[in-house]
Amino acid sequence: MPKVLIATVKPFAPEAIKGMRELFNNVGYETEVLEKYQEQNDLIQAVENYDALVVRSDKVTKEVIDAASNLKIVVRGGAGYDNVDLEAASVKNIVVMNTPGQNANAVAELAFGMMVYQARNQFNGKAGRELMSKSLGLHAYGNVGKCMARIAKGFAMEVSAFDPFLDKETIEQDGVKFMDNVEDLYRSNQYVSLHIPANEETRESINYNLLSLMPENGVLVNSARKEVIHEGDLLKIFNERDDFQYVSDIAPDCKEELQAKYNGRFYFTPKKMGAQTKEANINAGLAAAKQIIAFFEKGDTNFQVNK
Ligand code: 3PG
Repeated sequence: MPKVLIATVKPFAPEAIKGMRELFNNVGYETEVLEKYQEQNDLIQAVENYDALVVRSDKVTKEVIDAASNLKIVVRGGAGYDNVDLEAASVKNIVVMNTPGQNANAVAELAFGMMVYQARNQFNGKAGRELMSKSLGLHAYGNVGKCMARIAKGFAMEVSAFDPFLDKETIEQDGVKFMDNVEDLYRSNQYVSLHIPANEETRESINYNLLSLMPENGVLVNSARKEVIHEGDLLKIFNERDDFQYVSDIAPDCKEELQAKYNGRFYFTPKKMGAQTKEANINAGLAAAKQIIAFFEKGDTNFQVNK
């Protein structure tokens, strides 16, 4: 029977672990949990005898894959799989999956939390601004983008989206304005929220050319990955424009430079926490368990990302 390791530096909620254990127990799989491990080596040491691995943002490097001689499947409980060495997995015929959409609402709610917090001057008691009637541009319109649009309508914001993989009809059927090029998205929205993955094409792609197009009082919202930002260009914009603001679910590497000069104009969560809700953990954790069971029992590779 397959043996499953759930290895997460940032633990799933206990309810998620309980549900995952139950699902695996029901089909006779063994489950082990490795949480809050301190070093990468702890993961490398732990994986050896497992057939399946569930992770969150944990780094599944070539070393991890090479140390796991029985491994057949890795499921990233969440959306972004930039933490998994897909090439190393493919070489060993290991299937890699994500659980798309399962934590999208949690991420979108956090993005709005950061937007409100910043619009109200970080709750310092001074008069702030409202989100109502402001424009919100969604850079990519996947699962999180869709949740953003739904919530934005409740705030009576004007929502538009650019997604290089989606056509006008798909975006407009949600009552969201279609943007056919990325420059116009930045040019015409006070708030721009990032929902792109981190990969070769997107790394450092949010640069001066785009940010400098944003209108007065522009706010960049990042619940995606810090790697997509060109930090040199971000600093340049902060320096040139005292109206520009940035909120992000994880601090950039240039955090100290921003803190030294631009306090009040940015907010960063202390630790990446967009998906850190009980609901998202249960959704993503149970989806990961079900996908692993479907893979072993039926050969189902529906959510494979290393095809
Ligand atoms: C994702 O890609 O699903 C989110 O960034 C969540 O990441 P986490 O599981 O590390 O919280």
